[in-house]
Amino acid sequence: MASAAAKSRAMALLLVMFAVLQVAFAAVYKVGDSTGWTTIGNFNYTNWAATKSFEVGDVILFEYHPQFHNVMQVTHPDYKSCNASTPITTHTSGNDSITINTHGHHYFLCGVPGHCQAGQKVDINVLRVSSMAPTPAGLPSPSTPVATVPAPPPSAAGPLKASIGLLGNLGLAMAVLAAFVSGFA
Ligand SMILES: *[C@@H]1O[C@H](CO)[C@@H](O)[C@H](O)[C@H]1NC(C)=O
Ligand SMILES: *[C@@H]1O[C@H](CO)[C@@H](O)[C@H](O)[C@H]1NC(C)=O
Ligand SMILES: *[C@@H]1O[C@H](CO)[C@@H](O)[C@H](O)[C@H]1NC(C)=O
Repeated sequence: MASAAAKSRAMALLLVMFAVLQVAFAAVYKVGDSTGWTTIGNFNYTNWAATKSFEVGDVILFEYHPQFHNVMQVTHPDYKSCNASTPITTHTSGNDSITINTHGHHYFLCGVPGHCQAGQKVDINVLRVSSMAPTPAGLPSPSTPVATVPAPPPSAAGPLKASIGLLGNLGLAMAVLAAFVSGFA
């Protein structure tokens, strides 16, 4: 009998499943949101980045007109001085997806003369904290100890942690699905 209680239990389980699956996948952040990657409008990319909690595995998407802009990953000194002469990497497609594989700062600027000086630069900073306990951007990461999850060692921990998290979340989703199905058996 599909009572109201059974229906609401099924609904609750479905909601849990969606929540679990959602955290299992990396986020995609389009730089500048609807503004995109541009000098028009003096968009403040520092403000934009400050509202995000970037994590290892996230994808940073730069959308722009490739005739007018590009994307260069640069060192911190080059980011500060807007020096585009020795970039680490250069992207020119106009629709560049860059996966963030490490913690810490990732500095990007537009290498077209004058654009970085006009503010077309962004610092993607991945804090060293648990994904379960996001802290406000801008705070030094180890200010408060994070319970339950031991801090991963600095090297090579990102992809490993991500894949374990993915498997764990998928396992949980399967368990929830099994409970959901057996509830109707
Ligand atoms: C962007 O906003 C930050 C405050 O979040 C401010 O410190 C900075 O000067 C601004 N940048 C520009 C180019 O206006
Ligand atoms: C930019 O960086 C290059 C290489 O580090 C350096 O030779 C050059 O002088 C720098 N240019 C400016 C304007 O700082
Ligand atoms: C840019 O690439 C993403 C996938 O990486 C795609 O979903 C999106 O539609 C593309 N946008 C444009 C304007 O081509």
